[in-house]
Amino acid sequence: MTEPIIRIKHLSKVFGKQPQKVMPLVRQGIHKDTLLAEHEHALGLRDINLDILPGEIFVIMGLSGSGKSTLIRHFNRLIDPTEGEIWIKGTDITQLKNKALEQFRQQHLSMVFQRFALLPHRTVLDNIAYGLEIQKVDKPKRREKARYWLKQVGLEGYDAQYPNQLSGGQQQRVGLARALCTDADILLMDEAFSALDPLIRAEMQDQLKQLQSRLRKTIVFITHDLDEAVKLGDRIAILKDGILVQQGTPEHILHNPADEYVEAFVQNVRR
Ligand SMILES: Nc1ncnc2c1ncn2[C@@H]1O[C@H](COP(=O)(O)OP(=O)(O)OP(=O)(O)O)[C@@H](O)[C@H]1O
Ligand SMILES: [Mg+2]
Repeated sequence: MTEPIIRIKHLSKVFGKQPQKVMPLVRQGIHKDTLLAEHEHALGLRDINLDILPGEIFVIMGLSGSGKSTLIRHFNRLIDPTEGEIWIKGTDITQLKNKALEQFRQQHLSMVFQRFALLPHRTVLDNIAYGLEIQKVDKPKRREKARYWLKQVGLEGYDAQYPNQLSGGQQQRVGLARALCTDADILLMDEAFSALDPLIRAEMQDQLKQLQSRLRKTIVFITHDLDEAVKLGDRIAILKDGILVQQGTPEHILHNPADEYVEAFVQNVRR
Protein backbone atom coordinates (compact mmCIF):
# COMPACT_ATOMS: atom_id res chain seq x y z
CA MET A 1 0.00 0.00 0.00
CA THR A 2 1.18 3.52 -0.78
CA GLU A 3 2.18 5.54 2.27
CA PRO A 4 0.30 8.82 2.57
CA ILE A 5 2.41 11.93 1.95
CA ILE A 6 0.17 13.97 4.25
CA ARG A 7 -1.50 12.40 7.27
CA ILE A 8 -3.73 14.40 9.57
CA LYS A 9 -4.58 12.83 12.92
CA HIS A 10 -7.24 14.09 15.32
CA LEU A 11 -6.68 17.68 14.28
CA SER A 12 -8.75 20.28 16.10
CA LYS A 13 -8.48 24.05 16.00
CA VAL A 14 -10.29 26.50 18.22
CA PHE A 15 -9.83 30.26 17.87
CA GLY A 16 -10.18 32.44 20.95
CA LYS A 17 -8.58 33.43 24.24
CA GLN A 18 -8.31 30.01 25.90
CA PRO A 19 -8.79 27.25 23.35
CA GLN A 20 -7.61 24.50 25.73
CA LYS A 21 -10.30 25.42 28.21
CA VAL A 22 -13.11 24.73 25.76
CA MET A 23 -11.55 21.61 24.20
CA PRO A 24 -13.52 19.25 26.47
CA LEU A 25 -16.72 20.77 25.06
CA VAL A 26 -15.38 20.45 21.54
CA ARG A 27 -14.57 16.78 22.14
CA GLN A 28 -18.12 16.26 23.34
CA GLY A 29 -19.30 17.62 20.00
CA ILE A 30 -20.61 21.07 20.91
CA HIS A 31 -21.97 22.87 17.85
CA LYS A 32 -19.89 25.65 16.38
CA ASP A 33 -22.67 28.23 16.86
CA THR A 34 -23.15 27.29 20.52
CA LEU A 35 -19.42 27.43 21.18
CA LEU A 36 -19.35 30.94 19.79
CA ALA A 37 -22.55 32.20 21.39
CA GLU A 38 -22.02 30.75 24.87
CA HIS A 39 -18.26 30.36 25.18
CA GLU A 40 -16.83 33.03 22.88
CA HIS A 41 -14.61 30.68 20.92
CA ALA A 42 -14.72 29.93 17.22
CA LEU A 43 -14.57 26.31 16.14
CA GLY A 44 -12.19 26.08 13.18
CA LEU A 45 -11.86 22.30 12.95
CA ARG A 46 -12.89 19.30 15.04
CA ASP A 47 -11.15 15.94 15.03
CA ILE A 48 -10.09 15.86 11.39
CA ASN A 49 -8.47 12.66 10.16
CA LEU A 50 -7.29 12.26 6.60
CA ASP A 51 -4.63 10.74 4.41
CA ILE A 52 -3.44 12.30 1.18
CA LEU A 53 -1.51 10.11 -1.23
CA PRO A 54 1.53 11.15 -3.26
CA GLY A 55 0.63 12.29 -6.76
CA GLU A 56 -3.06 12.85 -6.19
CA ILE A 57 -5.13 15.99 -6.48
CA PHE A 58 -7.01 16.11 -3.21
CA VAL A 59 -9.84 18.63 -3.15
CA ILE A 60 -11.25 20.19 0.01
CA MET A 61 -14.76 21.57 -0.36
CA GLY A 62 -17.30 23.25 1.82
CA LEU A 63 -19.32 26.42 2.25
CA SER A 64 -17.79 29.70 3.37
CA GLY A 65 -16.63 29.40 6.97
CA SER A 66 -16.57 25.60 6.97
CA GLY A 67 -12.83 25.53 7.77
CA LYS A 68 -11.15 24.93 4.39
CA SER A 69 -8.49 27.62 4.70
CA THR A 70 -7.95 26.77 8.34
CA LEU A 71 -7.26 23.17 7.36
CA ILE A 72 -4.90 23.84 4.45
CA ARG A 73 -3.00 26.41 6.52
CA HIS A 74 -2.17 23.69 9.02
CA PHE A 75 -0.41 21.73 6.27
CA ASN A 76 2.41 24.27 6.20
CA ARG A 77 1.73 25.44 9.74
CA LEU A 78 0.72 28.95 8.94
CA ILE A 79 -1.72 27.98 11.70
CA ASP A 80 -0.83 25.94 14.79
CA PRO A 81 -3.30 23.27 15.84
CA THR A 82 -5.02 23.30 19.20
CA GLU A 83 -4.72 19.54 19.21
CA GLY A 84 -3.60 16.77 16.87
CA GLU A 85 -0.80 15.71 14.58
CA ILE A 86 0.22 16.79 11.08
CA TRP A 87 2.51 14.30 9.39
CA ILE A 88 4.13 15.41 6.15
CA LYS A 89 6.47 12.93 4.48
CA GLY A 90 6.97 11.08 7.72
CA THR A 91 7.63 14.15 9.88
CA ASP A 92 5.18 15.42 12.49
CA ILE A 93 5.55 19.09 11.66
CA THR A 94 3.83 20.18 14.87
CA GLN A 95 7.13 19.22 16.52
CA LEU A 96 9.34 21.40 14.30
CA LYS A 97 10.76 24.62 15.71
CA ASN A 98 11.48 27.90 13.90
CA LYS A 99 14.45 27.24 11.65
CA ALA A 100 13.66 23.59 11.01
CA LEU A 101 10.05 24.44 10.18
CA GLU A 102 11.12 27.17 7.79
CA GLN A 103 13.48 24.81 6.00
CA PHE A 104 10.91 22.06 5.84
CA ARG A 105 8.39 24.43 4.28
CA GLN A 106 10.82 25.76 1.71
CA GLN A 107 11.81 22.28 0.66
CA HIS A 108 8.54 20.46 0.53
CA LEU A 109 5.58 22.82 0.28
CA SER A 110 4.50 25.72 -1.84
CA MET A 111 1.28 27.67 -1.86
CA VAL A 112 -0.85 29.40 -4.49
CA PHE A 113 -3.22 32.00 -3.09
CA GLN A 114 -6.62 33.21 -4.26
CA ARG A 115 -5.49 36.81 -4.65
CA PHE A 116 -2.26 35.94 -6.45
CA ALA A 117 -0.14 37.66 -3.76
CA LEU A 118 2.58 38.71 -6.20
CA LEU A 119 5.19 41.25 -5.18
CA PRO A 120 4.21 44.44 -7.05
CA HIS A 121 7.67 45.96 -7.39
CA ARG A 122 9.27 42.86 -8.83
CA THR A 123 9.14 41.73 -12.41
CA VAL A 124 7.29 38.60 -13.37
CA LEU A 125 10.56 36.71 -13.61
CA ASP A 126 11.76 37.84 -10.18
CA ASN A 127 8.39 36.96 -8.68
CA ILE A 128 8.68 33.44 -10.01
CA ALA A 129 12.27 33.14 -8.82
CA TYR A 130 11.45 34.48 -5.35
CA GLY A 131 11.37 31.09 -3.61
CA LEU A 132 14.75 30.18 -5.05
CA GLU A 133 16.17 33.51 -3.95
CA ILE A 134 15.13 32.68 -0.39
CA GLN A 135 16.84 29.32 -0.80
CA LYS A 136 19.96 31.29 -1.84
CA VAL A 137 20.15 29.79 -5.31
CA ASP A 138 22.45 31.99 -7.43
CA LYS A 139 20.96 34.48 -9.84
CA PRO A 140 21.71 32.91 -13.24
CA LYS A 141 20.43 29.54 -12.05
CA ARG A 142 17.20 30.91 -10.60
CA ARG A 143 16.49 33.03 -13.66
CA GLU A 144 16.99 30.05 -15.89
CA LYS A 145 14.53 28.02 -13.85
CA ALA A 146 12.06 30.87 -13.63
CA ARG A 147 12.15 31.25 -17.42
CA TYR A 148 11.48 27.55 -17.80
CA TRP A 149 8.38 27.71 -15.59
CA LEU A 150 7.20 30.92 -17.21
CA LYS A 151 7.16 29.05 -20.49
CA GLN A 152 5.41 26.05 -18.93
CA VAL A 153 2.47 28.21 -17.87
CA GLY A 154 2.24 29.81 -21.29
CA LEU A 155 3.74 33.24 -20.55
CA GLU A 156 6.97 33.13 -22.49
CA GLY A 157 8.28 36.65 -23.13
CA TYR A 158 6.59 38.23 -20.12
CA ASP A 159 9.82 38.19 -18.04
CA ALA A 160 10.15 41.93 -17.56
CA GLN A 161 6.50 42.86 -17.03
CA TYR A 162 5.20 43.90 -13.63
CA PRO A 163 2.19 42.19 -12.02
CA ASN A 164 -0.11 45.19 -12.54
CA GLN A 165 0.52 44.97 -16.28
CA LEU A 166 -1.05 41.51 -16.37
CA SER A 167 -4.64 40.28 -16.39
CA GLY A 168 -5.96 38.28 -13.45
CA GLY A 169 -5.54 35.00 -15.32
CA GLN A 170 -1.98 35.88 -16.25
CA GLN A 171 -1.18 36.88 -12.69
CA GLN A 172 -2.46 33.57 -11.45
CA ARG A 173 -0.28 31.77 -13.98
CA VAL A 174 2.67 33.63 -12.49
CA GLY A 175 1.51 32.52 -9.04
CA LEU A 176 1.41 28.94 -10.25
CA ALA A 177 4.83 29.20 -11.90
CA ARG A 178 6.24 30.65 -8.68
CA ALA A 179 4.89 27.70 -6.72
CA LEU A 180 6.25 25.17 -9.22
CA CYS A 181 9.65 26.85 -9.48
CA THR A 182 10.86 25.71 -6.06
CA ASP A 183 10.48 22.01 -6.92
CA ALA A 184 8.45 21.45 -3.76
CA ASP A 185 6.41 18.35 -4.39
CA ILE A 186 3.37 19.43 -2.39
CA LEU A 187 1.31 22.25 -3.84
CA LEU A 188 -1.30 23.94 -1.65
CA MET A 189 -3.92 25.86 -3.62
CA ASP A 190 -6.50 27.83 -1.62
CA GLU A 191 -9.29 28.90 -4.00
CA ALA A 192 -6.55 29.61 -6.49
CA PHE A 193 -8.96 29.96 -9.42
CA SER A 194 -11.97 31.46 -7.66
CA ALA A 195 -11.17 35.06 -8.54
CA LEU A 196 -11.01 34.31 -12.27
CA ASP A 197 -13.88 34.65 -14.70
CA PRO A 198 -15.41 31.38 -15.87
CA LEU A 199 -13.64 30.94 -19.22
CA ILE A 200 -10.20 31.76 -17.87
CA ARG A 201 -10.94 29.60 -14.88
CA ALA A 202 -11.76 26.60 -17.08
CA GLU A 203 -8.54 27.21 -19.02
CA MET A 204 -6.53 27.25 -15.81
CA GLN A 205 -8.16 24.00 -14.69
CA ASP A 206 -7.19 22.37 -17.98
CA GLN A 207 -3.68 23.69 -17.74
CA LEU A 208 -3.29 22.44 -14.18
CA LYS A 209 -4.48 18.98 -15.20
CA GLN A 210 -2.11 18.96 -18.12
CA LEU A 211 0.85 20.02 -15.99
CA GLN A 212 -0.10 17.52 -13.34
CA SER A 213 -0.18 14.61 -15.78
CA ARG A 214 3.54 15.24 -16.32
CA LEU A 215 4.62 16.51 -12.90
CA ARG A 216 2.74 14.18 -10.57
CA LYS A 217 2.86 16.61 -7.66
CA THR A 218 0.67 16.17 -4.64
CA ILE A 219 -1.89 18.94 -4.93
CA VAL A 220 -4.28 20.02 -2.20
CA PHE A 221 -6.90 22.16 -3.90
CA ILE A 222 -9.59 24.14 -2.13
CA THR A 223 -12.77 25.17 -3.84
CA HIS A 224 -16.42 25.75 -3.00
CA ASP A 225 -17.43 24.67 -6.48
CA LEU A 226 -18.24 20.95 -6.87
CA ASP A 227 -17.93 21.21 -10.67
CA GLU A 228 -14.33 22.26 -10.22
CA ALA A 229 -13.81 19.61 -7.54
CA VAL A 230 -15.14 16.85 -9.79
CA LYS A 231 -13.09 18.03 -12.75
CA LEU A 232 -9.81 18.21 -10.84
CA GLY A 233 -10.04 15.90 -7.88
CA ASP A 234 -8.87 12.33 -7.56
CA ARG A 235 -10.55 12.47 -4.18
CA ILE A 236 -12.69 15.05 -2.46
CA ALA A 237 -13.19 15.83 1.23
CA ILE A 238 -16.19 17.87 2.32
CA LEU A 239 -16.16 20.10 5.38
CA LYS A 240 -19.14 21.48 7.24
CA ASP A 241 -18.85 23.71 10.31
CA GLY A 242 -15.32 22.46 10.93
CA ILE A 243 -16.22 18.79 10.62
CA LEU A 244 -15.27 16.39 7.85
CA VAL A 245 -18.62 15.05 6.65
CA GLN A 246 -17.52 12.91 3.73
CA GLN A 247 -14.51 11.93 1.66
CA GLY A 248 -14.11 9.79 -1.43
CA THR A 249 -13.76 9.82 -5.18
CA PRO A 250 -15.89 12.33 -7.13
CA GLU A 251 -17.89 9.40 -8.46
CA HIS A 252 -18.55 8.06 -4.99
CA ILE A 253 -19.65 11.43 -3.66
CA LEU A 254 -21.90 12.16 -6.63
CA HIS A 255 -23.64 8.81 -6.20
CA ASN A 256 -23.67 8.50 -2.42
CA PRO A 257 -23.92 11.95 -0.84
CA ALA A 258 -23.60 11.40 2.92
CA ASP A 259 -26.23 13.93 3.99
CA GLU A 260 -28.37 16.87 2.85
CA TYR A 261 -25.43 19.24 2.95
CA VAL A 262 -23.46 17.16 0.45
CA GLU A 263 -26.63 16.49 -1.53
CA ALA A 264 -27.07 20.24 -2.03
CA PHE A 265 -23.66 20.46 -3.71
CA VAL A 266 -24.45 17.43 -5.83
CA GLN A 267 -27.76 18.94 -6.99
CA ASN A 268 -25.82 21.93 -8.28
CA VAL A 269 -23.59 19.71 -10.40
CA ARG A 270 -26.54 17.78 -11.85
CA ARG A 271 -28.33 20.99 -12.83
N1 LIG B 1 -7.84 34.04 12.95
C1 LIG B 1 -9.09 33.68 13.27
N2 LIG B 1 -9.65 34.09 14.43
C2 LIG B 1 -10.89 33.71 14.78
N3 LIG B 1 -11.67 32.91 14.03
C3 LIG B 1 -11.16 32.47 12.88
C4 LIG B 1 -9.86 32.83 12.42
N4 LIG B 1 -9.63 32.22 11.23
C5 LIG B 1 -10.76 31.54 10.95
N5 LIG B 1 -11.68 31.68 11.93
C6 LIG B 1 -13.00 31.04 11.96
O1 LIG B 1 -12.87 29.68 11.58
C7 LIG B 1 -13.93 29.30 10.74
C8 LIG B 1 -13.40 28.73 9.45
O2 LIG B 1 -12.80 29.76 8.69
P1 LIG B 1 -12.04 29.47 7.32
O3 LIG B 1 -11.39 30.73 6.88
O4 LIG B 1 -11.18 28.28 7.47
O5 LIG B 1 -13.26 29.11 6.35
P2 LIG B 1 -13.26 28.78 4.80
O6 LIG B 1 -13.94 27.47 4.64
O7 LIG B 1 -11.90 28.92 4.24
O8 LIG B 1 -14.23 29.92 4.22
P3 LIG B 1 -14.17 30.75 2.83
O9 LIG B 1 -14.80 29.85 1.80
O10 LIG B 1 -15.02 31.93 3.10
O11 LIG B 1 -12.74 31.08 2.53
C9 LIG B 1 -14.81 30.53 10.55
O12 LIG B 1 -15.91 30.42 11.43
C10 LIG B 1 -13.91 31.68 10.94
O13 LIG B 1 -14.63 32.72 11.48
MG1 LIG C 1 -11.03 30.19 2.82
